[in-house]
Amino acid sequence: MIETILLGGDLRVRRLGLGTMRLPGPGVWGPPTDRAEAVRVLRTAVDLGVNFLDTADSYGPAVAEELIREALHPYPDDLVIATKAGLLRPEPIVSPGPWPRCGRPEYLRQQAELSLRRLRVERLDLFQLHRVDETVPFEDQIGALAQLRDEGKVRHVGLSGVDLRQLRAAERIVPVVSVQNRFNLLHRSGTDVLKHAERHQLAFLPFAPLAQGGWGSAAAPLEQIAHDHATTVSQVALAWLLHRSAAILPIPGTSKVRHLRENIEAAQVSLPAEVIEQLETL
Ligand SMILES: NC(=O)c1ccc[n+]([C@@H]2O[C@H](COP(=O)([O-])OP(=O)(O)OC[C@H]3O[C@@H](n4cnc5c(N)ncnc54)[C@H](OP(=O)(O)O)[C@@H]3O)[C@@H](O)[C@H]2O)c1
Repeated sequence: MIETILLGGDLRVRRLGLGTMRLPGPGVWGPPTDRAEAVRVLRTAVDLGVNFLDTADSYGPAVAEELIREALHPYPDDLVIATKAGLLRPEPIVSPGPWPRCGRPEYLRQQAELSLRRLRVERLDLFQLHRVDETVPFEDQIGALAQLRDEGKVRHVGLSGVDLRQLRAAERIVPVVSVQNRFNLLHRSGTDVLKHAERHQLAFLPFAPLAQGGWGSAAAPLEQIAHDHATTVSQVALAWLLHRSAAILPIPGTSKVRHLRENIEAAQVSLPAEVIEQLETL
């Protein structure tokens, strides 16, 4: 298995990262229920070799970025922190509450400035547009990212929740190095974007790689597979993603060191061909 990805041609990252959306309090809102554990999750991840963290201004809001700084600043040289902007957080998530979009260029700019301050860095390694805002001209949103990149405030630009048409349109404005879309054992649409990522050396960051814990009717067969191969359901799901494409860099989210360790160990799980086949038909 290929163990690393060269993000944007210059950032070598291991293929299992950490998503930080689970670190703030319930509803991705406010401080963590157990702050010490949240800090431990981040430090343990780095100790275990994770060097790609996915975060966003909207996680908390601000809380996940503040925790990253608290736990890890000054950062190890090889740590890559990917953040995002473009979603508002007027209230905690009330399931399945929407996160309103705001892609106004001046807002994206402001949020980049705030992320720089919170993370205490001179430049954001990867700045992702969280969602395209259909009420703002597309060129203005991507243009804001391009401008931040030109000014050196952002090293690389990524997109999130985009289709192939949007990705191609953005690439005509600014180099795009990653796409973050929902993709897991139960949600495999949008493979055209994945194929594009493979062909053009973009990283594909599947969000909700563990289906956010909701395996539904697939839970029973997955548990059986995990049991038969002395592994766990989460490890099966992550091993499948790592096997699915060399462009994929999963970013499982957790608030618990126990789960973090289990997830990282998934990189060592190799699923036999017949299991992969079985998973394809889930
Ligand atoms: N771009 C976007 O629009 C977008 C949207 C959603 C998420 N994201 C990013 O993607 C990351 C991953 O997505 P996600 O956090 O929503 O979902 P996920 O990784 O699919 O699942 C996280 C859920 O699974 C649980 N979990 C984690 N490891 C586990 C394990 N080994 N065993 C059992 N349960 C486990 C977590 O609970 P515990 O806390 O109890 O471990 C949490 O409830 C996020 O953290 C965020 O960085 C991006």
